[in-house]
Amino acid sequence: MSQTVLRGRILTFTDAPRSAEDTDCVRYIVDGAIVIENGQIIAAGEYTEVGWSAPATSTVIDHRPHLITPGFIDPHIHFSQMQVIGSFGVQLLDWLNTYTFVEEQKFGDPEHASRIASLFFDEMIRHGTTTAAAYCTVHAASADAFFTEAKRRNMLMIGGKVMMDREAPRALTDTAQSGYDETRRLIRKWHGRGRALYAITPRFAITSTPEQLEAAGALAEEFPGCYVQTHLSENHDEIAFTQSLYPEAPDYTGVYEQFGLLGPRTLLGHCIHLSEREIEALAYTGSVAVFCPTSNLFLGSGLFDWQRLAEGGVRIAVATDVGGGTSYSMLRTFDEAYKVLQLNGQTLTPLLSFYMMTLGNARALSLSDRIGSIEPGQDADLVVLDAGATPAGALRMETVTSLSEELFVLQTMGDDRSIVETYVAGVGLKSRLAY
Ligand code: GUN
Ligand code: ZN
Repeated sequence: MSQTVLRGRILTFTDAPRSAEDTDCVRYIVDGAIVIENGQIIAAGEYTEVGWSAPATSTVIDHRPHLITPGFIDPHIHFSQMQVIGSFGVQLLDWLNTYTFVEEQKFGDPEHASRIASLFFDEMIRHGTTTAAAYCTVHAASADAFFTEAKRRNMLMIGGKVMMDREAPRALTDTAQSGYDETRRLIRKWHGRGRALYAITPRFAITSTPEQLEAAGALAEEFPGCYVQTHLSENHDEIAFTQSLYPEAPDYTGVYEQFGLLGPRTLLGHCIHLSEREIEALAYTGSVAVFCPTSNLFLGSGLFDWQRLAEGGVRIAVATDVGGGTSYSMLRTFDEAYKVLQLNGQTLTPLLSFYMMTLGNARALSLSDRIGSIEPGQDADLVVLDAGATPAGALRMETVTSLSEELFVLQTMGDDRSIVETYVAGVGLKSRLAY
């Protein structure tokens, strides 16, 4: 089997940095090499050691002076909202009814779903995102389109058909039974096939009857290796409406709790306005709160309180939430995350940002044994970054003297232009994009 050697500056993490100066969990190699065979990393270290020990037949790709990190991971995105992003003027519930539910109906046409799936993965690759957890639409064919396209590119992707049986246009609703049956069929077809993983996806409590949430809970019990993804506590009107639909539940979190939908594989988008009881329930069950900064600002939903959730023992991930979110870029997303924390009197250090984009989000997805770091045995999903890719970035980089400064410039000024190459299972895919 032939080997590929990537040469460049290597950055990877072994744990979450606890301060701006905490470099104990950072592995940074100025002249590094990553040896890849059969889609996996088989060695990583100093070029003079591991690079030279690779066979003479290896292909060496020299990315110096650029920075190679693990591929970015986006744990909450709607692939069906590529033509919703940037829709003007409203907050969550009106945004869903006015724009999103109109657009998602188009996915009843499998040709539309296939076209958008292809463009979606192009955009992931362009922005350096190698794994995402994505919402498809209510149509089973949208999930087929999503996984078919991910498989074609050999990408590790999590996805699921949305389940919703009320409070949406008729063309976008299933039933408790059909949602269960179709989800079950999709799990059996896709979960664990190649690099595909399935997420049971009740959209949120408003659009599911108790019968449907019960069916989703039954699926989660039957298929414990699958994820559950949904939305929680994003917007005040949403919370009040949920409470009116589930008057017996102690709170919004309690709705999911009572149907067995919380747990270590549960990804809960937003989690902005939680009570102490809800935080305790999330921490106790090991559920993941997914912070979506660009979406929370764009829809005026509120400021995620990272410190409160972290101190409460809740696992945290950070995601784009396109199309409520306004950028596919994890760099742009962390730029906004930094500002949200600033408004809450909290600090997001550049080291913590890059940890979260990679190993932190991999851990939140319980996938850190496969992705999120540059170690032997990991899948070779990698990005090559250039903070000086634009004239303004290059000018700013003239004054940068440390790795942390470089990372902060990347996060503050960077976007898809900063992504020189995106490797998926060892294959450079960005350079192959048609445009
Ligand atoms: N809550 C329910 N559905 C959605 C969605 O598509 N986007 C966001 N941001 N919140 C939601
Ligand atoms: Zn969402």
